[in-house]
Amino acid sequence: MTNEVLKNRPIRSFVIRGGRMTTGQQNSWDALWPKFGLDLSSSHIDFTEVFGNSNPLVLEIGFGMGRSLCEMAHQAPNDNFVGIEVHRPGVGALLMKADELELTNLKVFCADANELLKHSIADKALRRLQLFFPDPWHKTKHNKRRLVQPDFVQSIRPKLQMGGVFHMATDWEPYAKQMLSVMENADGFKNLSGENNYSERPDYRPLTKFEERGQRLGHGVWDLLFERIS
Ligand SMILES: C[S@@+](CC[C@H](N)C(=O)[O-])C[C@H]1O[C@@H](n2cnc3c(N)ncnc32)[C@H](O)[C@@H]1O
Repeated sequence: MTNEVLKNRPIRSFVIRGGRMTTGQQNSWDALWPKFGLDLSSSHIDFTEVFGNSNPLVLEIGFGMGRSLCEMAHQAPNDNFVGIEVHRPGVGALLMKADELELTNLKVFCADANELLKHSIADKALRRLQLFFPDPWHKTKHNKRRLVQPDFVQSIRPKLQMGGVFHMATDWEPYAKQMLSVMENADGFKNLSGENNYSERPDYRPLTKFEERGQRLGHGVWDLLFERIS
């Protein structure tokens, strides 16, 4: 790649990890993708048509292996859930779990969330946007790859309905502080826990295995909930 191309390439919040799917996983993918999978579209997707109802829409970015997203969808049958993840084996795992739970209120994209938000999500489509344990990009030189930045926040703002909520959670304190600072300074949002406060984990967000272990080891987790007010 030339330096010019490299210079103009958008900064990515992810690295595609290895991990080929086994034949079994590929077979499940082929069988289940038509049921749960969605492809990016260059025009806005009509989720009322996709789900066959106009229930509130929740989008989760970077669901990992998808267990907690499936649990959430199972526990809230009157909401529609859409997950997006670039890690194919994670998407495969979610497909199997969604099938096992016979979910009818969950769809999935295997793509970059920035592309989805730019092209396929209509303004005011989302009741809630979830970003749980995003890659922390610990090193200072990599901090620019973190998703929660002022430009990103203003790009998601119109996608939320008025009163819609951007819910973040992280176990990396420096990132929690960055999230809080970016959100407190973002136009159009109000902290649901009062200025400069973190939130309690709402009941709808299941505790992950990873978090349970972290809690036993005394690690912190920070939830942040910001409502769109303008
Ligand atoms: C640290 S993992 C956390 C996974 C999951 N939320 C959890 O709590 O177990 C972050 C995930 O976000 C995904 N990711 C990062 N940037 C993304 C993007 N722009 N679009 C879609 N997925 C992304 C990564 O592939 C990774 O699986």
